[in-house]
Amino acid sequence: RQNARESLYIVLNYAKNFYQQQLHQSEEGHAVGLSYFKERGFSNEILKKFELGYSLDNWDAFSKEALKKGYSAEVLEKAGLLIHKEGGKTAGYDRFRGRVIFPIHNVAGKVIAFGARILKTDKNQPKYLNSPETEVYHKSDILYGIYQAKNAIRQQEHCYLVEGYTDVVSLHQAGIENVVASSGTSLTTEQIRLIGRFTPNITILYDGDVAGIKAALRGLDLVLEEGLNVSVVLFPDGDDPDSYVRKVGAEAFKEHLRKAAKDFITFKTEILLQDAGNDPFRLAAVIGEVVNSIIKIPDAIKRQVFFHRTSEMMKVDEQMLITEGNKLLRKQQ
Ligand code: CTP
Ligand code: MN
Ligand code: MN
Ligand code: MN
Ligand code: MN
Repeated sequence: RQNARESLYIVLNYAKNFYQQQLHQSEEGHAVGLSYFKERGFSNEILKKFELGYSLDNWDAFSKEALKKGYSAEVLEKAGLLIHKEGGKTAGYDRFRGRVIFPIHNVAGKVIAFGARILKTDKNQPKYLNSPETEVYHKSDILYGIYQAKNAIRQQEHCYLVEGYTDVVSLHQAGIENVVASSGTSLTTEQIRLIGRFTPNITILYDGDVAGIKAALRGLDLVLEEGLNVSVVLFPDGDDPDSYVRKVGAEAFKEHLRKAAKDFITFKTEILLQDAGNDPFRLAAVIGEVVNSIIKIPDAIKRQVFFHRTSEMMKVDEQMLITEGNKLLRKQQ
């Protein structure tokens, strides 16, 4: 089993090198992949740091070469690189074709998977194709960029969490290196604990669409449960951290992070209150939701601070919130 994993690491590393070589050394890689990255403003240095690559627009450019080098079709398939065709004449075809490649590293720096972005929008194809779950890649356990970010996270005792691959890369280029991405899915307990190995302080950078924010709010209770200190920063609607940092520059971006950061409970209370307006039933529901989040915080002193703060925001009696919270806590035990 150990050996099986080791052979996947080896072939994934081979693939990473292959895609990098295609980006920097092939004609198509230059004309298509490299010019795409340049248009996005990615420097050569940052391309190298994240080991970004390009997969040729060809059915089997990668696997043909890998088979020639002696990698078996079986190991290529197990690594998620080859799609096997039952009863086909050939071993199969490459999963990643005609896309720019973002290698995904584990904490130790080994490549475990790839994210691959299409170059032009095409409604018949997903914007990103990702490696499937494999013996070495469990999507819900890993965060994109953790290997490149971990030292900065430890040093600054703080981690930024973004949605996408390009947000991580762009922020590094802007000098913000303590950043990881959830890759578009909702956070899992494993991912939160991964951050918790390096710091208890996390700030979530959201793009500004309210629907997305509301969907994410409930998931964030998980972060509270793990005892982490969570803050939130919003960006103008339509922008993500990558587009915003390119728009305003690194300094204004950092200033925005300092000024717009709000602790999660305050943020959540504000959003829910705005939403409820003056409707007393909806207000009651908001109070219930806020109390429910506060009791997820393991630390009693922090809980007390938030009962006090939110009672003022919601204009309700603090003692009532505490009593409700205690009731809920007892029910859960
Ligand atoms: N994602 C994915 N599959 C998709 C769309 C998105 O896996 N079909 C994941 C990717 O990890 C992506 C993240 O969700 O980086 C965020 O999605 P989105 O904001 O749409 O992409 P961006 O990273 O902003 O990419 P770009 O700026 O190139 O549009
Ligand atoms: Mn969004
Ligand atoms: Mn983007
Ligand atoms: Mn985005
Ligand atoms: Mn008080």
